[in-house]
Amino acid sequence: MFLFKLLVSALLPFIILLLLKLIHRSRHSSQEHENSPPSPWKLPIIGNLLQLSGNQRSLSKLAKKHGPLMLLHLGSVPVLVASSADAAREILKNHEPMFLDRLKSTNLIKITYNFKDLTFSPYGEHWRHAKKILVHHLLSHNKVLSYQKVREEEVTLMMGIIKESCGSLVNFSELIFSYTINVFCRVALGRKFESENVKNLIELSIVMIGLFRFEDYMPCLSWIDKLRGLDSIMENHHKKVDKFLEAVIEEHLCKKRRESDKGESCVVDQEQHFIDVLLEHNEDDDTTSFRFGRDNVKGLFLDIFLAGTVQTFSSVDWALSELVRNPKTMKKLQKEVREFAQGKPNVNEEDLVKLKYLNAVFKETMRLHPSPPLIPRELTQDLNLMGYDIKCGTKVFINTWAIGRDPTLWDEPDVFKPERFLDSPIDYYGGHFELIPFGTGRRGCPGIHYSKTLNEITLANLVNKFDLALPNGENPEDLDMSESSGAVIHRKNNLFLVPTPAFK
Ligand code: HEM
Repeated sequence: MFLFKLLVSALLPFIILLLLKLIHRSRHSSQEHENSPPSPWKLPIIGNLLQLSGNQRSLSKLAKKHGPLMLLHLGSVPVLVASSADAAREILKNHEPMFLDRLKSTNLIKITYNFKDLTFSPYGEHWRHAKKILVHHLLSHNKVLSYQKVREEEVTLMMGIIKESCGSLVNFSELIFSYTINVFCRVALGRKFESENVKNLIELSIVMIGLFRFEDYMPCLSWIDKLRGLDSIMENHHKKVDKFLEAVIEEHLCKKRRESDKGESCVVDQEQHFIDVLLEHNEDDDTTSFRFGRDNVKGLFLDIFLAGTVQTFSSVDWALSELVRNPKTMKKLQKEVREFAQGKPNVNEEDLVKLKYLNAVFKETMRLHPSPPLIPRELTQDLNLMGYDIKCGTKVFINTWAIGRDPTLWDEPDVFKPERFLDSPIDYYGGHFELIPFGTGRRGCPGIHYSKTLNEITLANLVNKFDLALPNGENPEDLDMSESSGAVIHRKNNLFLVPTPAFK
């Protein structure tokens, strides 16, 4: 041991010298392509990985030093980070055709049934087909309206659970997550499932998507993935997901067979669930040159299953947290909602268009907490962007978190102030690059209507019926607002509140 220590202390100065030399060389080499965007210093092999902590906050810090268009190296992979509304517009609008592909990572192969989903599928025939199904048959404005009954029933059930627990501590994060899963399962599959099992599948899938793999960034260290047993972890998870999806598909095919044996039309329109629609397309396309096979059905279904539950849950969770942390804003929202509800037990969806402050609360929540870091894109040809040369294959990350807190765009950017949206034309449908939590353009989110309606009806009912307080007289300003890292940025810790009924 003594000898080892002696050896290390003797070699330490040389090791430090060698590292400094390598850093100097890598700095120099990043200036070699003198027309590249600015880059922070980087270490050999790992590049800028140590400067990132897994969420958009650390990227924002770097961007403050290096500018709104910055080139990072995650291991050997070049990643362009855009942190201003202008840079986002250049990428997502002015040069959109070159940025329509998504980043591909090894973890995604299993999760997406070899990119047969929509979110991560390459821009091409499968993507076009899948997006058309979603936009026209599952998530159109009229389709979303047709899920009203499910939303109203589930919101009433959730209100009932909260009423039972009035006066005691309630885990609102858990409750809202289960509720969004129930709504989605009823709309997509026609019935609810054992919430814990489904929750586990969803949570693990999100973890798997965000799992770091050396293979993708530092191929020379891919043996570490093997040591960590990543392949078998992915395989085991995939088997569980596939078993669940096969079971729900079989359940629906069986129902269809029974109905057609009885000579009834398979499913009446109102009872057609997401999975039925996908299976119908599965049949249709057997006759065309493009095959929308069973794996396409499963890939696409899993895609919307994750987005339709986690994303939606996370934005309600953040909205509620911000409201509890800002009691004056909560009071203002309660006043608006209660005036419209006029003592009615439930707020109806028809009332939502009139609730301007509620609408502003969600915009403000999405500005401060854009839950998915914009799902990265990939550049498909060499390009000169804002005066910089960017190489084909560069991954592209739009930092919506930084844009939402840019002091040149927003007054008091860190303050939760829904009022800023009351007389403002800015919305989140993709036309205003200051606020793009749902992305924009051809690869923009098709689930905006679904989420907006569910989010607003949920929050309106919660604040109509209950007053919500932190436990033990905790100071609202001290509410923990830590963010998770990974594929979806949700609250790191669950939100616990004590509800009391607003009306006797
Ligand atoms: C608050 C809720 C949601 C947020 C914040 C959100 C956000 C996003 C974002 C940022 C993107 C990437 C857009 C881009 O690259 O320009 C996206 C894509 C997508 N979202 Fe959402 N989303 C939400 C809800 C939903 C829901 C409810 C669904 C479906 C039920 C959904 C399905 C999808 C799909 C399939 C894509 C991929 C689109 C494509 O690549 O063409 N999302 N979403």
